[in-house]
Amino acid sequence: MDAITFLFMLLQSLIQYLRPVNDVLDEETYLRMELRAKRLEQKRIQLDREEEQLAVRQNDAVLYLLLICVALLLVLVLVIWFMGHKRSLRREENEEENGRANEEEDVGNEEDDRIQENIGRRLVERIQWPVQDLLAGCEWTTDLMDNYTIYFGHVLSNSFYPVLQRAIGVGSAFEGWSPREQDVVYRVLVPMTPPRGHSFHLELDTAGRTQLRNFHVRVQLECTCRREQQGDNMLCFLHHPKEELRRNQDPSLLDTLCTGSYLDVQKTARWFYQLVRAVWPALPQSHGWHLTLLPSRRSCQFKVTNGEETFRIEMLFGVRRGDSDIFVSSQPREAHTPNTTWPETYAVAEMKFFKHIARQAPPDSLHLRCLQLFTHLQLGIGFSTYTMKTIIMHLLNTIPVSQWCRRHFLRRLINISESLRFSLEDKCLNHFIVGNRRLPEEISLPPDVQMAEPPNFFHHLAMDPAAHFQAIGEYLDLQRQLLTILNPDD
Ligand SMILES: *[C@@H]1O[C@H](CO)[C@@H](O)[C@H](O)[C@H]1NC(C)=O
Ligand SMILES: *[C@@H]1O[C@H](CO)[C@@H](O)[C@H](O)[C@H]1NC(C)=O
Ligand SMILES: *[C@@H]1O[C@H](CO)[C@@H](O)[C@H](O)[C@H]1NC(C)=O
Repeated sequence: MDAITFLFMLLQSLIQYLRPVNDVLDEETYLRMELRAKRLEQKRIQLDREEEQLAVRQNDAVLYLLLICVALLLVLVLVIWFMGHKRSLRREENEEENGRANEEEDVGNEEDDRIQENIGRRLVERIQWPVQDLLAGCEWTTDLMDNYTIYFGHVLSNSFYPVLQRAIGVGSAFEGWSPREQDVVYRVLVPMTPPRGHSFHLELDTAGRTQLRNFHVRVQLECTCRREQQGDNMLCFLHHPKEELRRNQDPSLLDTLCTGSYLDVQKTARWFYQLVRAVWPALPQSHGWHLTLLPSRRSCQFKVTNGEETFRIEMLFGVRRGDSDIFVSSQPREAHTPNTTWPETYAVAEMKFFKHIARQAPPDSLHLRCLQLFTHLQLGIGFSTYTMKTIIMHLLNTIPVSQWCRRHFLRRLINISESLRFSLEDKCLNHFIVGNRRLPEEISLPPDVQMAEPPNFFHHLAMDPAAHFQAIGEYLDLQRQLLTILNPDD
């Protein structure tokens, strides 16, 4: 891995030295350069030694050299790119400053800022951003869900099905970005609370092999004899004779959406489909829009279209953990999630984090573009969208929100790329929500989530050297893609 450290030191020093501040290097810079050169030399010697060892040990010399070649190529491309920019930027500046006298002596920082601003502007122009009006889509979805919620309330008022609360927009679209150009999915989480005479109890699934936790939702009947005395026309499920209950009252939740005493995800999903279909004709949106239900076992997905516009919506449902921003939800984490398993979800906390950042960020902040760019790059490469998102969330929590504008753009892109590299080297990338004690105050976590040991997404890399080696290759691939996008001369 030190080969890569070395190459990146080289890369970074190139970035610094090519910064077009002055043609003549002053003495101090010279000294620094010399010092750096020495360090690079030492690093190289060390690298050579390790390279030999590695070649012997893994018998993988060819692959290793290939890796280095790719990395060297990257450096070259970057050099060319920066040279090109240096020239064109200097030309531009000369034109700008031609008329002016050389009165400005102390231009160091300002000039640096302007150069960074120019580089940022060019990068932003150079990258093709998807044209989507996510905000309008989110508003439309929120309106639709709010209308649905009102009708759900009417339809279910006398039943013993879960009580449906106002839907919460989650996922990339509601966070303000989208990893793909097409196929934006507007995802909402519908919180469910127990109906009269019932209570929900979340039980941790201790059999789970994953580091992230799963729960079961146990449904329990509660005595309602007192409510009955107070004139609530409901029989107590616990204390009335079965026969009377059967004749005079709808079945309890245990008899409808549960398997055993546990709330069943697939039965709940089917119930949601029936509700969404049944209520649709009553909604104002049904005029002019066409509803198509899409198959899904653990959520309710549908498409609404008016011929011109189409929205794809996924309704997940869940139960809130206490009064925190953490839920257990129907969204599966792996392929074969049992019917009574409800994985813990951090989607609401994450959405609130992005809202928190958006509130503080200047209007021209590019943090979402950084996210968009990197998640778009990694499509087809080994890193998941969630890995890139996690890295960027960590950075957003450390680098001041004001420093994600155009003139910081290049530095932030390098930060993100570096951060991924450090994580790969350390084989450690911590979950952003679980075990994070530095979240904004408005995000509320249950104590056990806050105090937990953060799950490590790169845990498997420590166990499996081959996977680690492959991940490094994927990292270089990502790097190459990034440079291809940024290089204006191809
Ligand atoms: C449903 O949504 C529309 C906007 O699409 C809104 O104008 C209307 O008031 C809502 N209807 C109800 C019954 O809430
Ligand atoms: C889950 O539920 C579906 C439908 O209710 C059923 O067909 C399937 O067998 C269940 N799976 C398990 C593992 O119980
Ligand atoms: C981001 O990059 C800058 C240099 O461009 C560096 O000074 C800073 O420490 C980096 N921050 C993080 C959190 O990596």
